[in-house]
Amino acid sequence: MEQISVVVADDVEQTRQDISRLLYFEDDISVVGEAATGEEAIEVVKEVKPDVVLMDINMPGMDGIQATEEITSHFSGTAIIIISIQGEQEYLKKAMMAGAREYLIKPFSGDDVASTIRQVAKVKRSYSFGQAIGSAEIEKKSQAKVVTLFSGKGGTGKSLAATNLSIVLGRSFKVALVDLDMQFGDISLMLGLNSKRNLEHLLEEEIIDWDVLQGYLLHHLSGIQVMPGLGSVEHNEKIERNLIEKLVNCLKEHFDYLILDLTTGFNETNLFALECADVIVQMVTPDLLSLKSAISSQRLFEALGNGHKVLTLENFAGRNGAFKQQMVEKTLEQTVVASIPYDEKTVLTAVNKGVPPTLVRSSNALNQAFEKLAETVAGKAVPDKSGKGLIRKIFSF
Ligand SMILES: Nc1ncnc2c1ncn2[C@@H]1O[C@H](COP(=O)(O)OP(=O)(O)OP(=O)(O)O)[C@@H](O)[C@H]1O
Ligand SMILES: [Mg+2]
Repeated sequence: MEQISVVVADDVEQTRQDISRLLYFEDDISVVGEAATGEEAIEVVKEVKPDVVLMDINMPGMDGIQATEEITSHFSGTAIIIISIQGEQEYLKKAMMAGAREYLIKPFSGDDVASTIRQVAKVKRSYSFGQAIGSAEIEKKSQAKVVTLFSGKGGTGKSLAATNLSIVLGRSFKVALVDLDMQFGDISLMLGLNSKRNLEHLLEEEIIDWDVLQGYLLHHLSGIQVMPGLGSVEHNEKIERNLIEKLVNCLKEHFDYLILDLTTGFNETNLFALECADVIVQMVTPDLLSLKSAISSQRLFEALGNGHKVLTLENFAGRNGAFKQQMVEKTLEQTVVASIPYDEKTVLTAVNKGVPPTLVRSSNALNQAFEKLAETVAGKAVPDKSGKGLIRKIFSF
């Protein structure tokens, strides 16, 4: 039986002992280390490289949130489960943003802790190349469906659509969202994620393979994985097509969907992303300039032999003075697959808080539009397999 190794980090010795006792009779789970502070937790993880850490939030010195951030950014093979007491919800949300996978409220039963450990270890393994090597899944090298968000004009809502499409697809599929905006990539910010390593650091890697990329992917609390863009604009010219090609080809083997968020227009990276896409989502806004640019882009897609991949997504629908959807469709001679309403308050708050609207389940028009887009991209309805998952639990506080 494959063993799941666990480290327990809590400043109260009695709690550490209680948890070890709860897990003592689980044949497939072994407690391999303990820590009383955040610093100690990092040291123990460095030493024993456990599958899972049960992490308390309030500890003297470095707290559980900082320790979670350190561990998830340096030891991608270790998953964190936060253990907290009722009333620490604000911290809890922060810990999830720092990369924790699940949480348990103290006191919890042996069954609760064991099943949560098994669940995060299972997800971790399904993403882990090392564990899966040789398995049928890797042998047949599953290839992700690549979806590219594009528009000829800036500020049409590509990044907003890329993040929300990823989250909706992520309810049923393994999704990686890749920030390929070489000018001002905003994806991490929009998802409330902190990235220490990004595309710039990838330039220094000798080889780019799944083992290396796992150290770069950020785990978002929705379950999707995110490849952050550039840390600064200065180095964008160093990111060559060759690097993007290696990155995309490697990620394709490990996910069901790869969502690529692009900068505006046609540059070398974008041309590659459009070429390798199975679906190109062209964002348009219902105004003359956007439609004019969409018509020019469509001509270029046709000339490049990519015309058949294009889905038209409308944003800013219903904005003052905007064209009606029928007018947009008639002008472009395309069907609009989904129409995102103009909703300044909701969108701006979501962006500023780093909490995309689809993270919170709701039947509002904004969420419905992203669900319809996901359904069209997937070719079928995207059922919610996440059950009463993490997100709903967090936001139902
Ligand atoms: N449906 C909407 N309602 C209101 N505001 C929106 C909507 N969609 C996007 N916005 C706002 O428009 C701005 C641009 O959105 P976003 O960054 O997603 O566009 P983009 O196409 O990725 O931009 P860029 O070309 O700079 O990459 C954001 O400030 C966002 O808050
Ligand atoms: Mg953008």
